[in-house]
Amino acid sequence: MTDPALDAGTTRERAVASLVTARDRTTLLTSCVDGPDLTAQHSPLMSPLVWDLAHIGNQEEQWLLRAVAGQEALRPEIDSIYDAFEHPRAERPRLPLLPPEEARRYAAEVRARALDVLDRAAFTGTRLTEAGFAFGMIAQHEQQHDETMLITHQLRRGPQALTAPDPEPVPLFTGPSEVLVPGGPFTMGTSTEPWALDNERPAHRREVAAFRIDTTPVTNGAYQAFIEDGGYDDPRWWTAEGWAHVRRAGLTAPLFWQRDGRQWLRRRFGVTEVVPPDEPVLHVCWYEADAYARWAGRRLPTEAEWEKAARHDPAGDRSTRYPWGDAEPGPEHANLGQRHLRPAPAGSYPAGASPLGVRQLIGDVWEWTADDFLPYPGFRAFPYREYSEVFFGPEYKVLRGGSFAVDPVACRGTFRNWDLPVRRQIFSGFRTARSVEGA
Ligand code: AVJ
Ligand code: FE
Repeated sequence: MTDPALDAGTTRERAVASLVTARDRTTLLTSCVDGPDLTAQHSPLMSPLVWDLAHIGNQEEQWLLRAVAGQEALRPEIDSIYDAFEHPRAERPRLPLLPPEEARRYAAEVRARALDVLDRAAFTGTRLTEAGFAFGMIAQHEQQHDETMLITHQLRRGPQALTAPDPEPVPLFTGPSEVLVPGGPFTMGTSTEPWALDNERPAHRREVAAFRIDTTPVTNGAYQAFIEDGGYDDPRWWTAEGWAHVRRAGLTAPLFWQRDGRQWLRRRFGVTEVVPPDEPVLHVCWYEADAYARWAGRRLPTEAEWEKAARHDPAGDRSTRYPWGDAEPGPEHANLGQRHLRPAPAGSYPAGASPLGVRQLIGDVWEWTADDFLPYPGFRAFPYREYSEVFFGPEYKVLRGGSFAVDPVACRGTFRNWDLPVRRQIFSGFRTARSVEGA
């Protein structure tokens, strides 16, 4: 065993760094537009940015100041305004929200106190503080809202407010289009990852029959072939529900795309550009991903197949934290953390490939899986039912792997995201799979 005092020091450092990184990102996302842009609602699907900002502070106050440190509420009257369950997103602009300057001051006051709590925290005793869980949970919560706020920026009309360098160009990927994953059991989920959230737990064995999975996410170019082949007009490719939705909503292409003669353009953070054919497709809903897969003679991977492709190391019959092993994600492994404001071309990040050669499982685009969001056997809600438990059931589909907009602290081989099958303002794409005959 390592020295527990040293462990506490490492935990503290990691917690401080994660909270600081999250706040730097929040500050950027809420200072690159002016006051009216912060209080406006840019889409009925989203909150005003100033709601996210104070909600981030309010969650931090509830968990780090009140639950961990036993402090009194700073402003008990605002709790209900920032309770996501009391007020759906559509009604948030009409709430008596803290104005931008007040929201900033509130979040900063909470943060100063939280760092003080962290300074004196012992990371043992209660489940909430064990290994710094509450601090990790709050850093992840802020980063999740930073991704949400980036989605709001993408939906916002008007001139560009954010910029970032493009990913490194790579030669066109010419490797095998799919990878065979042999059948057999593997360990899904985790019981040891200290900051894993409740829905990722506990670790359990799963039998997964042999299957083949795409080496890279489906690209814009491949998706365009589905469009040009009349995919949106052919009910054969769609489930009954998907077909009803695509007709009712009048979908003809991914969100933010528009046809310009023979080519497709897209709007990305205020700039209109030609859709790059070799980049993973973005802003498709579950129904579109599912229809594309059927058109291609394939299907979406199950959640267990996705995780086995991402974590199973056939050499040691062991599940790793990431496709490349157990090391924390670096810029050589994956496109994460809003370093770029777009996915990297298919075939990027060979250093991030799985032992079998599957690429870009982590980062770039959230990947729709075939499955509903359900608890693992032995699931226990922690620390609150509203994080995962109230969403379990057939209404929500699971997404895996994280997008370019997710920070590494909120992204692991075990991390589970979920959304309604109609949603496509999120940074969602997919890859396809197929069963192996006789497996
Ligand atoms: C896990 C991304 C579905 O944004 O609804 C944020 C994360 N939970 N605040 C969401 C979350 C509470 C959640 N997702
Ligand atoms: Fe939240």
